[in-house]
Amino acid sequence: MVEVRAAKPSLPSRVTIYEVGPRDGLQNESALVPTDVKAEFVRRLLAAGLPVVEATSFVHPKWVPQLADAAELMELLGDEGRELPVLVPNERGLDRALELGLKHIAIFGSATETFAQRNLNRGLEDQFAMFEPTVRRARDAGLDVRAYVSMCFGDPWEGEVPVDQVVDVGKRLFDLGAGQLSLGDTIGVGTAGHVTDLVEAFVAAGMDRDQLAMHFHDTYGQALANTYSALQAGITTFDASAGGLGGCPYAKSATGNLATEDLVWMLTGLGIEHGVDLTQVVATSIWMAGQLGRPSPSAVVRALAESPT
Ligand code: HMG
Ligand code: MG
Repeated sequence: MVEVRAAKPSLPSRVTIYEVGPRDGLQNESALVPTDVKAEFVRRLLAAGLPVVEATSFVHPKWVPQLADAAELMELLGDEGRELPVLVPNERGLDRALELGLKHIAIFGSATETFAQRNLNRGLEDQFAMFEPTVRRARDAGLDVRAYVSMCFGDPWEGEVPVDQVVDVGKRLFDLGAGQLSLGDTIGVGTAGHVTDLVEAFVAAGMDRDQLAMHFHDTYGQALANTYSALQAGITTFDASAGGLGGCPYAKSATGNLATEDLVWMLTGLGIEHGVDLTQVVATSIWMAGQLGRPSPSAVVRALAESPT
C-alpha cells in the first residue's frame, strides 16, 4: 500500500474527490447495467468514504439509453439518493429531479460550438437560454447547482480551444447561479502547463480557486500530471471515476476519467487528506469490472488486484 508522506506546505492539505463513476462511467458502457447493480455501485462508493457521488443523468433517454433508468435508480437509493447530485440539462430534466425530491443538480455546458450542437442539440449561445431558467428554478426550489464546462482544452472538431473562450463560457455558466464550476478536459488532451494557464485565467476573471473543480479524462495519460499542476495552482476539488470508467458518448475520442484509485494513491503519497478508503474503492472497481465483463483500466486497480497488500 502507498506510503503516506509528510504534507507539502505548497499544496492544499485536504481535497474533495467528486466521484463520477456511476454517471460519467456508466453513460458510456455498451452493456446496459441493471439498476440494482448501479445502486449497489453507488452505495459501495459512499461506504468507501467518497463524499460526493454523482449518481446518474436526467437527460433524454434516447440520447443516453444507459441512464434511462435514472428515476428508478434514485427511487431505489431512497433518502441516500436525495443527497447525491445528478446531471440535468434543461427544465424537463429539472422537473424529473424535483418530482423525486433531489437536492443537487449539475448543468453541463460546452466551450465550443460543435460540441454544443452534438451534445445539447443547440448552439453555443443558445445553450444559455436552456440553462438560465433551469438554474433559476432550481435555486428558487432550494437546490444546489454545479456547472460543468466541457472541451476546456481541446475539441475533436475544432482543435485547441482558446483560454479566453473557455473563461467566457465558464464564467457565464457559473454566474447563472452555480456554486461550483467543473472544468472538463472531455477528450483528455490537456497538459500541465495548459492547466495552470486556464486556472490563472479564471482567477484573473474574478473566480475563487475554491469555486473551481477539475474534471480530467485520461486519454493521453496526462490526468495525474494535470491534477498535480492544478494542486499547485490551489485547486481543491477533483472529479474522478472509480476504476477509470468513463467517456462521453457524444465525443468519440473521450475515454475514461482519471481513476479514483490513481488519484487517491497520489494524494495519499503527498500527505493530502481525502477521507477515502483505497482498499474499498479498489474492491468496488474489481466487482464492477466483473459486472461489466472487462478489466478496469486503472493502473492502481490492476496493480493491487495482482498483488493486494
Ligand atoms: P432536444 O431533442 O433538443 O430536446 O434534446 P427538446 O427540448 O427539443 O425536446 C424534445 C423531446 O425530448 C420532448 O418530448 C421533451 O419532452 C423531451 P416530446 O414533447 O417530443 O415528446 N425531453 C426530455 N425527456 C426526458 N428528459 C429530458 C428531456 N429533455 C427533453 N431531460 C437535450 C436536448 C439536452 C435533452 C439532449 O440533447 C440531451 O439529452 N443531451 C444529453 C447528452 C448527454 O447526456 N451527454 C453526456 C453528458 S455530458 C458529459 O459527459 C461531459 C462531462 O462529463 C464533462 C466533461 O467531461 O467535459 C459532464
Ligand atoms: Mg466527463
